[in-house]
Amino acid sequence: MKTVLSVNINKVALLRNSREGNFPNLLQYALDCEEFGADGITVHPRPDERHIRYNDIPVLKEHISTELNVEGNPIPSFMKLVLDNQPAQCTLVPDDPSQLTSDHGWDTLKHKSFLKDICNQLRENGIRSSIFLDPDPHMFEHCADIGVDRIELYTGHYAIDFKKDMDLGFIELSKHAEVARLAGSAGIEVNAGHDLNMMNLKPYKEALPTLKEVSIGHALTIDALYFGLKNVISMYKNILK
Ligand code: PXP
Repeated sequence: MKTVLSVNINKVALLRNSREGNFPNLLQYALDCEEFGADGITVHPRPDERHIRYNDIPVLKEHISTELNVEGNPIPSFMKLVLDNQPAQCTLVPDDPSQLTSDHGWDTLKHKSFLKDICNQLRENGIRSSIFLDPDPHMFEHCADIGVDRIELYTGHYAIDFKKDMDLGFIELSKHAEVARLAGSAGIEVNAGHDLNMMNLKPYKEALPTLKEVSIGHALTIDALYFGLKNVISMYKNILK
């Protein structure tokens, strides 16, 4: 099954924000990612707008031709942004404003009715919902009740373990494969993301053959400094074939 590559462009927005002006031009970067083969563009606006700014979203939505995935904590301002701009997919992430980066999935039991309500709003607006999840069968258990279309498995721990010791990585990977199997039986599709890179992506894809989408930003942006964006996107796409 084809796994699509959604390029997370937050890091390029961070670079732009380090100076006045619009250099590098974020929209052009997104369009170049598409031209070089990206299947989608992911953005993760945070309340402090330290990388993607809220006003980047309408511009991206208007001009890109692949799927836009908007991720974030569904606070009222984020939900307004999403509903106003109608991305193809909205990934709900339980990050707090001061967090450096997303580092855990939802407690789907504690936040069940909240997530259910948000997923309903997204469905009513024709936006595919996805929730960020640790590879924990107990947390997956509530996803069918929530009525989410997809889950995005948090791959941060897998990436750390894999780097430390490949065998350790495979132990963590087996948890992902098990949740993906449960999701398959429940008719819920599976995305994955965080700290995926050229080394750890191949075994991940092999262990989760039904994986729908990966969103990759940090490593891909750094790889592009060394190999060039066009080469890097085709290298990642080759891994996902
Ligand atoms: N998925 C989520 C929910 C994220 O917050 C991020 C980082 O913004 C990613 C995927 C992509 O992670 P990375 O930048 O490490 O590839």
